[in-house]
Amino acid sequence: MNGMNRFARLDRQFVWHPFTQMRDWLQSEPIVIAEGHGAVLRDVHGREYLDANSSIWTNLHGHQHPKINAAIRRQLGKIAHSSALGLANEPASLLAAKLVEAANPRSRRREEADGSKTPSSGSPPRRLRRVFFSDDGSTALEVALKLAYEFTRRARSADSLSAGKKAAEPKFLSLEGAYHGDTVGAVALGHIELFHRSYAGLLFRSDKVMAPYCYRCPFNRARPERADAREYRNCHWECLAKVEQKFSAQQKKGNPYAALVFEPLIQGAAGMIPQPPGWLKRAADIARGHGALLIADEVMTGFGRTGIFNSELRTQNSGLIFASHHEGVQPDFLCLAKGLTGGYLPMAATLTTQKIFNAFLGRYDEFKTFFHGHSYTANQLGAAAALASLDILQSPESVRSRQALEKTLRQELQTLWSLPNVGDIRQVGLLAGVELVKEWRTREPFALRERAGLRVCEAMARRGVLTRPIGNVIVLMPPYGATPAQVRRTVAALDDSMRAVFRQETS
Ligand SMILES: Cc1ncc(COP(=O)(O)O)c(C=O)c1O
Repeated sequence: MNGMNRFARLDRQFVWHPFTQMRDWLQSEPIVIAEGHGAVLRDVHGREYLDANSSIWTNLHGHQHPKINAAIRRQLGKIAHSSALGLANEPASLLAAKLVEAANPRSRRREEADGSKTPSSGSPPRRLRRVFFSDDGSTALEVALKLAYEFTRRARSADSLSAGKKAAEPKFLSLEGAYHGDTVGAVALGHIELFHRSYAGLLFRSDKVMAPYCYRCPFNRARPERADAREYRNCHWECLAKVEQKFSAQQKKGNPYAALVFEPLIQGAAGMIPQPPGWLKRAADIARGHGALLIADEVMTGFGRTGIFNSELRTQNSGLIFASHHEGVQPDFLCLAKGLTGGYLPMAATLTTQKIFNAFLGRYDEFKTFFHGHSYTANQLGAAAALASLDILQSPESVRSRQALEKTLRQELQTLWSLPNVGDIRQVGLLAGVELVKEWRTREPFALRERAGLRVCEAMARRGVLTRPIGNVIVLMPPYGATPAQVRRTVAALDDSMRAVFRQETS
């Protein structure tokens, strides 16, 4: 293509993009990003776009944040990377301590310690004390999976040995529609047919259980309304009964689930599917009641993304930055990535308890070591960025502006209910999904091949707003550094794009 930007040409010639039909990609000149500032991305032609999905859910405080830039520069003046195999380093040690602090919110600890409140998901109080660093969301999950597997296998082998039996393989339960990453172990925990079906031969088997998806729940007897389906649902928590049944059935087989793996409060790649308040805590209690470990995948939900309202305590609690804690659930594994470095560098962390850690201690020749690691584990530049990002996140200014932004997003989204192709709008904190349908009264979905979500996002891009759909669900996830005006522009672009794509007037 004549006149095409040089980098666009090189990209088309050499790069293979993730989750992308490359035949379509090669039809046009790609947007080549040259710079970013705050919530704005600028391409090589100088065109500006709002980064409405925070660069695939990673960015927290905006691009080129002066504090994160400075922290990385300072670290770069010392060293970019040295191995964590056999060596410790400054920023990673400090980051581990800070993550442990954030993962054990004080109010909860106090309540449990002084007995003023029953620990919500098992006792004695569970503390996350150890941090295993890796590279991305998928590896954070792989680490949790392998640790939970090995911990359970060892515990059960010891029991079986004394009973003279062979222990069954530890088995995992995750939610319908689950997505936990693209490495083989993470894929085995996933249940998105389209992504995962082809690799069935490579995977170990994990089970799935119904997740609450109020808008399309077969047990929700409510007729469609112009509100978030969680608010007008009419059911008897049949989804939780399914969780209980699943655990009981597996227990009867003599091989109780080793762990329940879940995204707390809202499932992301499943289609931005939020859980009605109370679901998470009850599901966690069921799992605990059957002796299962809890693996919380907070790759998307972590670091304040789900807002600062604590549904268990019915209060705003700015100290809570992880979604699980909003319902008083303390998992055995907390998997973090994406926002960990503020969206700057690939780094992940899996936090776990002393009990899990202890199971891997022993004499050298017992070989209880956790044989797992990555070349860039505990990378200094990533750790320095993460420390700066945490600092910003926990500042009163960030809390205030996130609160205001969340409110603006909520108000603006209300304006979309007038469109007949909007079926459901679901917002949790600073993330939202807008589900497109053929007609809101029937909830009839678009077939995937109609590319409804993609067409709307392409129209948004032409209006200077970038995001990616999940099937028919448009994802809005502004960086915390976005201004209210930018959030208003984002929603207006979505409104305008839906009208243009569906060529329909308001109902
Ligand atoms: C909930 C969740 N877990 C895990 C992952 C995998 O993370 P990564 O793409 O960094 O490997 C993702 C990615 O979107 C995710 O949303």
